[in-house]
Amino acid sequence: MTDDLTTSSIARVARRAAGADESARASRIWWEGAADEYQAEHGGFLGDAAFVWGPEGLDEARVRLLGEPDELRGARVLEVGCGAGQCARWLRGQGAAEVVGIDVSYRQLQHARRIDEQTGTPVAVAQADAQRLPFADAAFDVVCSSYGGFPFVPDTAAAVAESARVLRPGGRLVFSVSHPIRWCFPDDPTEAGLVARDSYFDRRAYVEEDGAGRAVYVEHHHTLGDWVRSIAAAGLVLRDLVEPEWPEDNEQTWDGWSPLRGRIIPGTAVFAADRPEADEPRG
Ligand SMILES: C[S@@+](CC[C@H](N)C(=O)[O-])C[C@H]1O[C@@H](n2cnc3c(N)ncnc32)[C@H](O)[C@@H]1O
Repeated sequence: MTDDLTTSSIARVARRAAGADESARASRIWWEGAADEYQAEHGGFLGDAAFVWGPEGLDEARVRLLGEPDELRGARVLEVGCGAGQCARWLRGQGAAEVVGIDVSYRQLQHARRIDEQTGTPVAVAQADAQRLPFADAAFDVVCSSYGGFPFVPDTAAAVAESARVLRPGGRLVFSVSHPIRWCFPDDPTEAGLVARDSYFDRRAYVEEDGAGRAVYVEHHHTLGDWVRSIAAAGLVLRDLVEPEWPEDNEQTWDGWSPLRGRIIPGTAVFAADRPEADEPRG
């Protein structure tokens, strides 16, 4: 990984392949530059110690995809792509014994520190790549991620397998990504964003490059089937696929997510899967 993380203006947008290292480096570059604005714009909606699964505002305190309160109490939890650690802080409030957040962006983690100090609820964080978790096998009871990491990886099977690796038998993985159907539509919150334009089956990444051809933002598209197959291949059992509906009382627009579009097409997919108590032999 290069340490030159300075961003310059976007010279070109491409649809092309991007590998694991290039994608992680682009995420680092992007989020070092975007973290301040992201937290200023969305921090209020996210809450300092709250767990929402995406722009619809689906609240973990209500849906309990990670487990009932008594299951979270005493649990060891890893949050992947934790940003400023809002979800991790909520988990601490639930009585989880250990909560660790990882994120590829140092600036996002500095925001975690800022909120730790403001709230008096610190969360342990480390700078790391979702594709190479710096933890032992079976170290966690729960692995979770709200739009953190998974939308930015080229290989769904490898990323899900890596999270499954650090989950103990009987543990649970829950993560949210942009709903794959969004890939067909322009990222536009108005009516223009309701006209299907691109193929759902085109897996080439969306890549923004600077003048030197360096990727500075990469987002990957994977179909629902890609995610389901990757969950099965990792030896996990898919328990639920939640497609949150846009609530009447949510009037906020978040980039291409808006009440107008949200009432017509899904914006978020949340996958909830369990690692069986005894691992099934993999075919
Ligand atoms: C949309 S933000 C979501 C952050 C947080 N979960 C939230 O809800 O605000 C995406 C986060 O994923 C992180 N990220 C992107 N690629 C990553 C990777 N390969 N490994 C770890 N984190 C990554 C970014 O740095 C960023 O903080």
